[in-house]
Amino acid sequence: MRYREHMTTTYAVLSDGLEKRFGDVHALRGLDLAVAEGTVCGILGPNGAGKTTAVRVLTTLTTPDSGTATVAGHDVRDAPGAVRRAIGVTGQSASVDGELSGRENLRLFARLLRIRGAAGPTRADELLERFELTDAADRPARTYSGGMRRRLDLAASLLTRPEVLFLDEPTTGLDPHSRNQIWNAVRDLADRGTTVLLTTQYLEEADRLADDIVLIDQGRAAVTGTPAELKARIGSYAEVVVADGSAMLPAAAVLDQLTGAEPVLDHERRTVGAVAADPSLTLPRIVRELDAAGVPVVDASLRPPTLDEVFLRLTGRNTPEERAA
Ligand SMILES: Nc1ncnc2c1ncn2[C@@H]1O[C@H](COP(=O)(O)OP(=O)(O)OP(=O)(O)O)[C@@H](O)[C@H]1O
Ligand SMILES: [Mg+2]
Repeated sequence: MRYREHMTTTYAVLSDGLEKRFGDVHALRGLDLAVAEGTVCGILGPNGAGKTTAVRVLTTLTTPDSGTATVAGHDVRDAPGAVRRAIGVTGQSASVDGELSGRENLRLFARLLRIRGAAGPTRADELLERFELTDAADRPARTYSGGMRRRLDLAASLLTRPEVLFLDEPTTGLDPHSRNQIWNAVRDLADRGTTVLLTTQYLEEADRLADDIVLIDQGRAAVTGTPAELKARIGSYAEVVVADGSAMLPAAAVLDQLTGAEPVLDHERRTVGAVAADPSLTLPRIVRELDAAGVPVVDASLRPPTLDEVFLRLTGRNTPEERAA
């Protein structure tokens, strides 16, 4: 049984000014992170933002050029062995051996992790059961679906009951059922006191799992907050499809007036969209105003923003060219 410390926060992951270059590419540009013990931290960011590089530095797979980081109280540079003993990692690409069965993979990992005696096989069977892999446990892993492989990967990272678990895009490309299983497993671990740092490109995933979200952009933490805080800052996204091109500007004028945000026009799709920060703005009101202005509307929606829109809104940049500027 672990007790949450209420007086002072203990950080399972702390980084200060992490820098990492690969030739001309500046993958991390002063990344600061603070993940409180027993919480789930979601690192969100587009392709190339530096998520995997950050995970690799924190899990001692690569060394930073400058800056410092501690994981479970150990310095990644001075005590990499102690860091490794305290963590579990599931990388972005599968690490299981396709020729071995699921059970053999887990038993092999257990031996590599020096789990002695019957404890390894017992733990392997427990994890196979927990991730609904028992039926497939004795088939070669190469015959597994993508979701099954991810689950096996996650199981492998849990053999040692790590203090801190790193998951790099754990559900990318998975179907809703597999995604849910992983989400439940992560939530369950966190509830038992494991600190989890996960990267994702899905706002919904971070929303479901994370206590705190760090939006990283160009190797730096651009925005940090709880899911509710981020959403409150972002608002919804209103989008209307008009019947013909001549209706685009009148539609934009209505959205501008309703949201106070600069509308984005997509002439090819005949859509006009705008960030709607005001939570009291409703879809019926948008449609009524458009109708009153005589705008021929084909479709209209008011939905949570996509990660791209969050980025555009919170960093003021979206395209890779603009990001490089
Ligand atoms: N070993 C390497 N050699 C050269 N460049 C690298 C290397 N690893 C990463 N990079 C570059 O560093 C930048 C950050 O990459 P990283 O893999 O950390 O991004 P990411 O946020 O994980 O992206 P994705 O969402 O696509 O996984 C990218 O421009 C990438 O091309
Ligand atoms: Mg990555």
